[in-house]
Amino acid sequence: MRTETEHTIYLKDYAPSPYRIVSVDLDFKILVENTRVRALLTVEPIEGTAPGTPLVLDGDGLVLGSIAIDGAPLMLSDYAANDDGLTLFEPPLRKFVLETEVTLQPENNTKLMGLYRSSGTWCTQCEPEGFRRITYYLDRPDNLAVFKVRMTAPLDVAPVLLANGNLVDTGDAGDGLHYAVWEDPFPKPAYLFALVAGDLGSITDSFTTGSGRKVDLAIYCSHGKEAQCLWAMDSLKRSMAWDERRFGLEYDLDVFNIVAVSDFNFGAMENKGLNIFNDRLVFAKPDTATDGDYDGIERVIAHEYFHNWTGNRVTCRDWFQLCLKEGLTVYRDQEFTSDERSRAVKRISDVVTLRRAQFPEDGGPLAHPPRPDQYREINNFYTTTVYEKGAEIVRMLATLLGEAGFRKGMDLYFERHDGSATTIEAFLAAFADANGVNLDQFKTWYLQAGTPKLSVDESYDAEKQTYTLKLKQETLPTPGQATKQALVLPIKFGLLGPNGSPMGWSGVSGAEVRGELIVLDGATAEVTFTGIANRPVASLLRGFSAPVVLDSQSSQEDQLFLARHDSDPFNRWQALQDVGMALAVAAVKGTPWSDASVTALSQAMGDTLGSETLDDAFKALALNIPDEQSIGREIGRDIDPDAIHLVRNALLRAVFEPLATQLLATYNALASTAPYSPDAASTGRRALRNRTLGLLLAGEAAGAQVLAAQQYAGAGNMTDRMAALASSTYANTPESLGMLADFRARFGGDPLVLDKWLAVTAAAPRDGVIDEMKAILADPSFPKTNPNRLRSLVATFAMNNITQFARADGAGFRFVTEFVAEVDKINPQVASRVLTGFRIWPMLDAPRREAAKAALSGLQGQSLSRNVSDILTRMLAS
Ligand code: TRP
Ligand code: ZN
Repeated sequence: MRTETEHTIYLKDYAPSPYRIVSVDLDFKILVENTRVRALLTVEPIEGTAPGTPLVLDGDGLVLGSIAIDGAPLMLSDYAANDDGLTLFEPPLRKFVLETEVTLQPENNTKLMGLYRSSGTWCTQCEPEGFRRITYYLDRPDNLAVFKVRMTAPLDVAPVLLANGNLVDTGDAGDGLHYAVWEDPFPKPAYLFALVAGDLGSITDSFTTGSGRKVDLAIYCSHGKEAQCLWAMDSLKRSMAWDERRFGLEYDLDVFNIVAVSDFNFGAMENKGLNIFNDRLVFAKPDTATDGDYDGIERVIAHEYFHNWTGNRVTCRDWFQLCLKEGLTVYRDQEFTSDERSRAVKRISDVVTLRRAQFPEDGGPLAHPPRPDQYREINNFYTTTVYEKGAEIVRMLATLLGEAGFRKGMDLYFERHDGSATTIEAFLAAFADANGVNLDQFKTWYLQAGTPKLSVDESYDAEKQTYTLKLKQETLPTPGQATKQALVLPIKFGLLGPNGSPMGWSGVSGAEVRGELIVLDGATAEVTFTGIANRPVASLLRGFSAPVVLDSQSSQEDQLFLARHDSDPFNRWQALQDVGMALAVAAVKGTPWSDASVTALSQAMGDTLGSETLDDAFKALALNIPDEQSIGREIGRDIDPDAIHLVRNALLRAVFEPLATQLLATYNALASTAPYSPDAASTGRRALRNRTLGLLLAGEAAGAQVLAAQQYAGAGNMTDRMAALASSTYANTPESLGMLADFRARFGGDPLVLDKWLAVTAAAPRDGVIDEMKAILADPSFPKTNPNRLRSLVATFAMNNITQFARADGAGFRFVTEFVAEVDKINPQVASRVLTGFRIWPMLDAPRREAAKAALSGLQGQSLSRNVSDILTRMLAS
């Protein structure tokens, strides 16, 4: 294998470039055969640059056509151009204009970085290092320049020509060509550059900002999909209004364009004034999109829009700082959804995602700090740790500083850094200075990998009327970080009295306690409350106020007490999950649950379902047993996924079978004939109804399988149809194969619905699924260049079908590594992302570990992209 240790980039080596590019004039001649790019870069040395210092520009796979400085062609001895870039040995030590010309083949660009063609549309993806595939440049986020872009293209295939900023000119260019000129007045790094040329439909709207500026909004898509963009447009306008209300941030250009494309490596991209989206995060109509899809669209539209301030106006100095923009922007989109919908439900879903995706990353071979200090391939650091743990860190900051203090910090951050590229240190300094606090220790969250475990021991002294919590935090070593520092843990809590109402205290000592917040900043602390007349039940880590694993050793009785009485909805949900988790883990380890303990959980679930105060969406989340991966993680080592699968299903049956009558009554009561609407209440209603159906199936209630088949056939929207299909397939009912075949026939022509079929198929926990997937991939009509199709099938399999992926005979592992080797040649980003599914391998039992290792070692011998070899090396180092 090519191990490219020499290519490792270190944060400590950061240095500004000796030259900067201050303005860029690009001229694209887009033809069906190829695209010619002429670039005029206005370059100047920074202060202190010594004469004879070379100018090193990035390039990736470019072939230099011509090169000149201030109009004079260079001689061969003046420069060197190779596959990684262009070096000018002795550029002038003054401002000069460098002119280069290259010719690109967008049609052959299957990596989908740089300029490529998606279903006939030319589009770009430049973050993080795609611009160097378009022209030679200082492709680093700390070089901010103003861009002017001229595009010429055939009028028939590309009537729509878009780039960043404002349209300043258009016209006829002869020979069936036309042109457009766009100017972006805001200096930006190259990763925010974008252009689009194609034959597209659109919907338009407008938004008037708080200060009265009218912004023209448009969403572009393939013809015929316009009506499916309305929800995205609605989401955009609400995002714009929310950012003004909540953070005082207005949009800054006169136009805001969004383009939906079919081939895209990620969800979406925040290019200045021209967001480009994976079409699955734009298109929605009730009969093809689920509530989850509507939710995803709202969230990602908001996310990319919010980047205009957190990412674009203030950007990253280098890619180590990625979570400066991503963690903060995820926090902002989470807050948007919380304000627009239900805060409790949003928090629970986000924590479920964090535990399902980020915790295993943080506890496995790919663990890394939210701000890494080295990388070999930056594309492999667009991770759930950078995004979701990054958001948790910002959330803790907000918890520690309070909403007003947090806002003061944000305001100062923009005041200081608007229009520049900066660092995590500068971000924290703004919050520290605005609030007069010290955040030095808090910063450790950004530097340290691993999920801390917070252990709590409680004791009550009836005589002294004191209640004591002994707190301890511990973070296990992670790759490259053997020792760990204590972190600042904000622990929201409350004490409940015997009747379930909040209990106060007369005094508290031992650690920093502010109202209902304990701030633990050492490895251990003891907090003693005085004036406690009865033993309280503590509700700890309310709202999941820190991203830790809480080990509280509390009894089932106390947990179920919290499930009934806690004023914090998150902890009510958590308590029910903890009870299920404890029963499942004990059973996997060989101690079966007692009838009494299952009955108690079953009753608590029944009470939750019957509650008149809890909302439907909350109930849908609460009526569950933790998923197989979470149970596996709790067990931690030598996992046998088949055993976990069996135990979990048995527990679901034991807990929910007694509730069959109540579940069925709820199912029937929640039926609705109202037209589909994606609002929170309707979504919650569908979620709960579909949850009851799933539980009836899991509980093997009489008639449930037929009921599911009926719901599938008669569904009035995709949410209900998919729910019936997915739960029947998971339960492997006799009807499920017919439903799958029907689904395929019914929706095979809509690629985004085909993805749903692929995903449900890939997640089916039954023997034979690997052969089915092989057959799907072998079909010549399967589009191996489309990331959505590939991910729906294979990433779903590797992430969500633990029993088949981690088969003891190794067939699941081999299927994935063979896929990775093949797709790596087409699209390394898709390949390396799929390979990360192996991150659970060190936790498996010995036969499965051996099988995983054998499959990974088989990959090692092959010629691999840097993306895949980086993941593989880290995966095998553990
Ligand atoms: N900045 C994008 C986001 O978070 C992420 C992204 C989009 C991306 N496309 C990419 C990252 C391609 C790497 C490669 O919204
Ligand atoms: Zn982002």
